[in-house]
Amino acid sequence: MLNELINKTDSRLEELLKPVYPEKIYEAMGYSVMAGGKRMRPVLMLLAYGAVGGSGDERILDFACALEMIHTYSLIHDDLPAMDNDDLRRGKPTCHKEFDEATAILAGDGLLTYAFEVMLRDKTQKYEPKYTRAAAEIARLSGMDGMLVGQVVDVDSEGKQIDAATLEYIHKNKTGGLIKAALMAGGIIGGADEPTIKLLESIGEDMGYAFQIKDDILDVTSTEEVLGKPILSDEKNQKVTYVSLYGLEKAQKDYLALSEAALEKTSRLGENAKELYDYIKGLIDRTK
Ligand code: IPE
Ligand code: IPE
Ligand code: MG
Ligand code: MG
Ligand code: MG
Repeated sequence: MLNELINKTDSRLEELLKPVYPEKIYEAMGYSVMAGGKRMRPVLMLLAYGAVGGSGDERILDFACALEMIHTYSLIHDDLPAMDNDDLRRGKPTCHKEFDEATAILAGDGLLTYAFEVMLRDKTQKYEPKYTRAAAEIARLSGMDGMLVGQVVDVDSEGKQIDAATLEYIHKNKTGGLIKAALMAGGIIGGADEPTIKLLESIGEDMGYAFQIKDDILDVTSTEEVLGKPILSDEKNQKVTYVSLYGLEKAQKDYLALSEAALEKTSRLGENAKELYDYIKGLIDRTK
């Protein structure tokens, strides 16, 4: 089931990114998108869609691919010399290393704008509100109420001793934004009612915070070979992380508690949510 969702997403991404003139930009965008990656955000969107009883929608897969494009853009820009200055991503040289900085900036811009084209174009010309609403939530949570503003405060906090509330703001936005977007968009396109969309948002909030805490943990406990990205990147950039602020032991404990909270909320979605529940549970012990 999981492999099937990932394979479907990958094939559609290949199709969407097939190079045409000017080929160079498709090559750079495709290079980073197809370099690997867990595909967690598309999988969460597709499972949330199923969890609320969605089936047979022709456009949900394009929304899932679009969110992976936005995520990949955020990684390409996050790795640039002006930001985290990292040379390895998904086990390969980062986009600016494989190509050059201008191409990496444009590849990120391309993925972000193309994502919205893919979400909002409509061959039927019906422009149904559920798609507009899902795209609007994705825009908000990628930008001014999510990933972008989280990255702004993250970069602004380098070398500073920030407090717990600021770290929570960074983590819940830079990482929580797209995770919330995945679950909410899946619910909206699947036809969920308002309380269910709220519940999905709340699951995303816990999961997103948990996911970044684990990312901070792996930055100090894993290896470059396993992660496919450099370790100790946070220390290099003088970032306050959940681990540097609270220590490894409390980070691990809080990570588990947040993961359990997300699971408890997921169980409230009912029996269609079993696959979503199992997927979130399976992420707890992730090693990359
Ligand atoms: C990495 O995300 C960036 C963070 C938000 C921590 P992932 O760990 O999901 O990276 P990929 O998609 O598997 O490469
Ligand atoms: C970045 O957080 C989250 C993004 C929005 C890309 P990190 O800078 O910790 O992500 P990694 O460790 O480089 O994947
Ligand atoms: Mg970063
Ligand atoms: Mg980084
Ligand atoms: Mg990190």
